[in-house]
Amino acid sequence: MSDSSNTKPTQNIQWGGRFTEATDAFVQVFTASVDFDQKMAEQDINGSIAHATMLAEVGVLTADEKTQIIDGLEAIRQEIRNGEFEWSVALEDVHMNIEARLTQRIGITGKKLHTGRSRNDQVATDIRLYLRDAIDAILSEVTRLQTGLVDLAEREADTIMPGFTHLQTAQPVTFGHHMLAWNEMLFRDYERLVDCRKRVNRMPLGSAALAGTTYPIDRTITARLLGFEGICENSLDGVSDRDFAIEFCAAASLCMTHLSRFSEELVLWASAQFNFVDLPDRFCTGSSIMPQKKNPDVPELVRGKTGRVNGHLISLLTLMKSQCLAYNKDNQEDKEPLFDTVDTLFNCLRAYADMMPALQVKKDSMREAARRGFSTATDLADYLVKKGMPFRDSHEVVGKAVGYGVANQKDLADMSLDELQQFSDIIREDVYDVLTLEGSVNARNHLGGTAPVQVRAAAARARAQLAAR
Ligand code: ARG
Repeated sequence: MSDSSNTKPTQNIQWGGRFTEATDAFVQVFTASVDFDQKMAEQDINGSIAHATMLAEVGVLTADEKTQIIDGLEAIRQEIRNGEFEWSVALEDVHMNIEARLTQRIGITGKKLHTGRSRNDQVATDIRLYLRDAIDAILSEVTRLQTGLVDLAEREADTIMPGFTHLQTAQPVTFGHHMLAWNEMLFRDYERLVDCRKRVNRMPLGSAALAGTTYPIDRTITARLLGFEGICENSLDGVSDRDFAIEFCAAASLCMTHLSRFSEELVLWASAQFNFVDLPDRFCTGSSIMPQKKNPDVPELVRGKTGRVNGHLISLLTLMKSQCLAYNKDNQEDKEPLFDTVDTLFNCLRAYADMMPALQVKKDSMREAARRGFSTATDLADYLVKKGMPFRDSHEVVGKAVGYGVANQKDLADMSLDELQQFSDIIREDVYDVLTLEGSVNARNHLGGTAPVQVRAAAARARAQLAAR
């Protein structure tokens, strides 16, 4: 904003007629949004082209006026793309900047573009167009990340790691199964975004300032031209509510929450203490003082950025909560949180989609960790149940065996048959089939279980779902 603070106050050309003095220089800067809403320039131009086309079809503009307007707007689009457009804070926002430039380029006809609309329905339309494109870009990054996870799950379907509850070793699981757990979360994130997109994709244009317009507009034409699936049915609601943006931010917060959980695991797993994975060097940084360090910056940052996305959700909820109908300037504050949410979520997904296929899995180290920590204790209890012992008794028996193991620093699978039989005489040689890690994971062979055959089947189903998108 530094270059705009010394802008000379000028009589605003869009509403100067009503005013006897120019806007205060600071107020001009304070109320302007052009620094950030120029991000919606393409959508603004597309919306204006559709509006002008419709106005010509219903006879409010002549065919020639329409052509002049569209040609002028296309030329402005090129100026913006080439970085030649001069944005002016005196013109407050993206809408007035483009409209003023249009009049500069094509003369009096440019002043007819704003017939039958208001910046209130214009901005609401632009945000929806912007968000619709943003959701599409985000959805394809979700798919890219999911594809990487499914590949990894298939590759590591047999790889054994300790599964945790309370971050204590619980039962062995397969690494593929763990990756597919992440993938399930992303399936739901995808669904939420697709669902939210339906409500984003409704058109407020035609609501005008708040009450509609006296011109014979045909909103179905503009909706079709802009690819909207529906039309906001009430003009007061159309210009004012931003629930679609809030809903997107809620879906984004959940997706970031999932990425943050993944990040926490990767940070732990990449530590010397866990030593489960190696993150490719290109996704890490070093320390300027400790030469041995390789820091998992990407997962750490993703975890950290979840905070700002959650914050934006609260900002938008709070922005909306007490607003009376219809449009209020408060709503200008919707853009920065929304834009930052879009950029942050997209970038985090992108980083993950790039990083996950390159993850190196340290099978031996994970296996060793699963072997330690009595991860097959439940399998021993289930073994005793299958031999006729009630589960609560078997739980007790195995608890004693684990106590013995802790005291003697021996895992269950390392105890001799004699040692195991101290705890129950129904234990036989076949116990070792269930005490092994492979025995343990293979036994969980049902839909949703961790057995490698189930992981392969689940990965195939996931792949088919992704291919059907
Ligand atoms: N820059 C404004 C916004 O972002 C555009 C709408 C302004 N409307 C108005 N009546 N002042 O919401």
